[in-house]
Amino acid sequence: VTGVPPSLSAKVVGSFAYFTVKDRLPTILTKVIDTIHRNKNKFFEEYGEEGIEAEKQTIGLLSKLRNELQTDKPVLPLTYGRQDTEPWNQYLQRQVEVQGDPESVSWFKSPWLYVECYMYRRIQEAVWLNPPINDYDVFNEGKTQSFFESQQAVIAICTYLEGVRKHIEELSKNELLEHFRKLLLVSLWGNKCDLSISAGKENSQKTSPIDSLNDLEPFILVDDSNMVWSSLLSAQKPVQPGKTTPGRVDIVLDNAGFELVTDLVLADFLVSSGLACEIHFHGKSFPWFVSDVTANDFQWIIRKVMAANHMWMSKSGVQWQRYLKEGVWCYHDHPFWTQPHEFCDMAADAPDLYATLQQADLVLFKGDLNYRKLTGDRDWDHTVGFDTALRGFGPAPLCSLRTLKANVQVGLQPGQADKLTSQDPDWMTCGKYAVIQFYSPKSE
Ligand code: F6P
Ligand code: MG
Repeated sequence: VTGVPPSLSAKVVGSFAYFTVKDRLPTILTKVIDTIHRNKNKFFEEYGEEGIEAEKQTIGLLSKLRNELQTDKPVLPLTYGRQDTEPWNQYLQRQVEVQGDPESVSWFKSPWLYVECYMYRRIQEAVWLNPPINDYDVFNEGKTQSFFESQQAVIAICTYLEGVRKHIEELSKNELLEHFRKLLLVSLWGNKCDLSISAGKENSQKTSPIDSLNDLEPFILVDDSNMVWSSLLSAQKPVQPGKTTPGRVDIVLDNAGFELVTDLVLADFLVSSGLACEIHFHGKSFPWFVSDVTANDFQWIIRKVMAANHMWMSKSGVQWQRYLKEGVWCYHDHPFWTQPHEFCDMAADAPDLYATLQQADLVLFKGDLNYRKLTGDRDWDHTVGFDTALRGFGPAPLCSLRTLKANVQVGLQPGQADKLTSQDPDWMTCGKYAVIQFYSPKSE
């Protein structure tokens, strides 16, 4: 289609996509292989010889995968899955049709977004194909470790939350706005702590995030937080004269560990302050991009926070469990989140999910990968509007909370990108910068 820039791809030698496919993805694969190998004894203890055999087979498949990637082989159809094999293979078929030749749909020649998603799906295929270890989460160790390493920061934000909650009834609108903005920023910067950009290397939050917010302010390139606030206020619906009910907020989660805690704290604040009446969380249905949240991670973290040896932390956890039990909070996963599609395809390719999001008054998209999918991971000019880059995607008012880790960024002021490049040539991939970018289909 005219006017739509090409997808980022490793075919551009020297680009971040090229560097990722050439170096970062093989590093991640090697770590996965090491993790499985290191757990050999555990598999033996649990499953005996069968466990050892499964370990060997899984490693064999993963080594083969790494070899396909490194020698730029064509992307192969999937052979096994849980209902999602067909959409993946249809996607591949479409790529082949566009290229006109299966050989050219290879790791270095295809869209980066596609091959990177495909790698995680193939890792999962290798695990699924090998009972009895087929429920093993190859990224679990890193995710749990990153949570434990950010204990102090978790305590700090839970303590802040409980402090706000105690006086919530007495807060003026301005005070409420101030707390809202702080917790939105905490959730934004929580996205720094993903384990994919660091290729699985330890990347946790050590200091109290609340105290660093002022210092981080200059690194926010676009700040639409006031529009997010207004969208919450305008979602309040009158029920009786003088009485309103707040709207529903959906959070499309990104990483487990510290980032997830920041999202839960924000969600708690939205409900306890009456800014939202319901929160729907969306996670991944299998381990994804090293640190993304699965249903297991979600339950695990709430249990850990609840059982913590710190009064305010455990109080928060108990409250979160209660929200879930009462249905004020709920967790969903949908296969679409672990597919390679740009979000502008959602209405056609996952209409049920699109309809679910349409029920929300605000959808928060966490993290870098969601931003890449919102904007199609394309080589957009930096001054193109966020609305243009969304290409018709807009089930509800939405906001991206993202620290920049990939070279796609839209919605900047003329000259802003050039200035950044001259100060900090890797501003788009170093994870130091962030955006809060809002779009509402209602304003069109
Ligand atoms: O390497 C690809 C990538 O999408 C990067 O852009 C980013 O480092 C990471 O994976 C995912 O980041 P996030 O957890 O914020 O989606
Ligand atoms: Mg992630």
